[in-house]
Amino acid sequence: MSLHPGTAPHTDTDPHPDTASLGGLVEIRGVHKSFGDLEVLRGIDLRIDPGSVTVILGPSGSGKSTLLRTINHLEPVSQGLISVDGEVIGYRREGELLHELHEKEVLRQRTSIGMVFQSFNLFAHMTAVGNVAEAPRRALGVPRREAEARARELLTLVGLSDKFDVYPRQLSGGQQQRVAIARALALRPKVLLFDEPTSALDPELVEEVLAVIRSLTRAGTTLVIVTHEISFARDVADTVVFMDQGRIVEQGPPAEVLDRPRHERTRAFLQRVRTGAEAADEDPAPTSPPPVEPSPAPPADAPRRPSHPSATALALDPTTPLPRYLTEDHQS
Ligand SMILES: Nc1ncnc2c1ncn2[C@@H]1O[C@H](COP(=O)(O)OP(=O)(O)OP(=O)(O)O)[C@@H](O)[C@H]1O
Ligand SMILES: [Mg+2]
Repeated sequence: MSLHPGTAPHTDTDPHPDTASLGGLVEIRGVHKSFGDLEVLRGIDLRIDPGSVTVILGPSGSGKSTLLRTINHLEPVSQGLISVDGEVIGYRREGELLHELHEKEVLRQRTSIGMVFQSFNLFAHMTAVGNVAEAPRRALGVPRREAEARARELLTLVGLSDKFDVYPRQLSGGQQQRVAIARALALRPKVLLFDEPTSALDPELVEEVLAVIRSLTRAGTTLVIVTHEISFARDVADTVVFMDQGRIVEQGPPAEVLDRPRHERTRAFLQRVRTGAEAADEDPAPTSPPPVEPSPAPPADAPRRPSHPSATALALDPTTPLPRYLTEDHQS
């Protein structure tokens, strides 16, 4: 199976310039992640269907960003396995052992798993078109003219046809985030991850970004969105996942999880978010600053931080249950 979006139809006559290749099936099995002694993900199992929309909710520190970052191997897992369309992410199987892939191969995999960050992470020295065209040129070798033509199409799609040649500093936060979405789409990802895409925005700019994300639903790409925008989740999600303390507490359709949560922790969280939103509606004063990310997230195609040297991976066959055991020497 090819994970290379460069093999997708890529011509000027493409009838769906806005749609990516078909959505990927994401399977997350038994995923644990620790930072030193701190276990941040404590056994995550989640199946995300091709083309579906999943919204992840949960209190600060519950592991939402970490989970997203393991999906494209910005964070290597400590245990467990993540696959997209059956291809293990970040690791290569050899017999019953998993070895971490080399950087180049991880980058290739990452071309099919786009990510949009809270803080945009645009390249400051490049125009909007430059930002969107960069990854196809660098990662897929698309010629400059073609990459830039496609970039203009994508920027038009996100409502920025008048901003092709401006730099990020000349754009509002909402516009910068729309460039970031266009950039993520440029590689025609199978899966698109959004980590609180609107929480760094002034309230009046939130809706324009949500509208763009809404327009991407049902277009084929699998979307996984971490957000506190509950009414948006209700509108767009097929599945809402509520996380707390590194575990999935419950998941299901929005009408269940948001309106009839089974767990007290979910109820308490929703209550807090709703109360906060109402308070913000009533109070014209600036809302509290967005939560600070634990570390600046690099662009999706940025060099990955070195993994923990003692990371181990649990070998799991994607198709048949295998005896599980930990690798002793983790080498890539
Ligand atoms: N690179 C890191 N090194 C050490 N600890 C980390 C790192 N990244 C995250 N953590 C810790 O992992 C826990 C989960 O963090 P994560 O960012 O996944 O939470 P979150 O649910 O996204 O929270 P928020 O809603 O505030 O964004 C936190 O306690 C955080 O401090
Ligand atoms: Mg987060």
